[in-house]
Amino acid sequence: MPNRCDALIQTFTELTEPIRIEAVRALRKISEIETTNIISKLPSSSEDQRAGIAWAISRSGNFVLDDLIRTMVDDDARRCAAYILGIQDKESSGSFVLDLGGAYVSGRPVRSLYNYKVLFRFCEEHGFNLAEEFFWHNPAKLPSPIEWVNKRKIRAKDAVNTIWWLSKSDFPKADVRNVLSPYSERMKKLLEDSERFYQPKKRPSGHDISSKFSSSNGGAIPSNLLQISNTESNSQYLRYCSAVGVKAHPARFPEKLPAFFIQFLTEPGDIVLDIFAGSNTTGAAAEQAGRHWLAFERDKKYLLASTFRFIDELSPNELIEFWSKAISSKITLELMKSQQEMVLMEELAEYKANERR
Ligand SMILES: C[S@@+](CC[C@H](N)C(=O)[O-])C[C@H]1O[C@@H](n2cnc3c(N)ncnc32)[C@H](O)[C@@H]1O
Repeated sequence: MPNRCDALIQTFTELTEPIRIEAVRALRKISEIETTNIISKLPSSSEDQRAGIAWAISRSGNFVLDDLIRTMVDDDARRCAAYILGIQDKESSGSFVLDLGGAYVSGRPVRSLYNYKVLFRFCEEHGFNLAEEFFWHNPAKLPSPIEWVNKRKIRAKDAVNTIWWLSKSDFPKADVRNVLSPYSERMKKLLEDSERFYQPKKRPSGHDISSKFSSSNGGAIPSNLLQISNTESNSQYLRYCSAVGVKAHPARFPEKLPAFFIQFLTEPGDIVLDIFAGSNTTGAAAEQAGRHWLAFERDKKYLLASTFRFIDELSPNELIEFWSKAISSKITLELMKSQQEMVLMEELAEYKANERR
């Protein structure tokens, strides 16, 4: 079988297009059982061959993330791996959640449509479905732009971000019972003494509100308006940033925001990836919820300081020692919590995050 794989991979560069297409289809069939072997060919293959291998693996959908990550030896291989991850087949249960703040067109009291354009492109060009739109209401958001809202008073305060919950499948993994909201006071009273407040009956609308309505489900189904203040002020992350003199990330999520989608859309042991991780609030929320996580961030300063979210309480001297090690050339950090190790990858580094558990 391995020789057959090699021969098929070889044909991606050598023959005419119809034959290359047949070869890649054949490789796709083989990759359902030979995935590890085929993935291992990716790093040493030529760019033309990698495109064919990536297509075959993505269509078989039978890959292990760890195997794939080890193949990211250069930019082209990374692009292929990102392609494989992004092209899930329709049966995949994964979700892609994108938080985008609203914006004004520069210098004009006119809203930019960029967040809607992004949504259209994901759905119309990349095969995603909009599973549901969410709105994150941050009551603590400051009014802006000052010119239109504060000075001229011709626009209202913008206090919501749009959050697009996208998926390739019509039925991504989701369980709203994991994110129930507390019942309202009125509902709590009704549940305590349902007969006093309420008799089962058919409503004029035709909704048959049976007696099941008065039994507790542990909480209310949440709405797609998530009201979460962004007012973190005394977390370990902020205290340690200030103690070692680094600037905290200026655009952090409140942890409850990624936590909501992690609980709602994944199960313990699943993998959560934040491609614009910043201070890695998402990783911290995933860790709390017992999920594996990966964080991609282009600014090394943010990435290094994000480790403060994962370490045990340290004395001032221990913290300085930890920080000196972090900013030295060593990029593997031993974290005290549960003897874990966190690997900060810069360019190519061996992927070891999975050994943490
Ligand atoms: C809005 S911040 C995310 C903050 C994060 N949610 C948190 O709670 O800390 C976006 C981050 O994406 C990073 N970024 C932008 N473009 C990137 C890219 N192409 N690859 C990786 N990171 C990128 C920026 O450096 C920035 O830290």
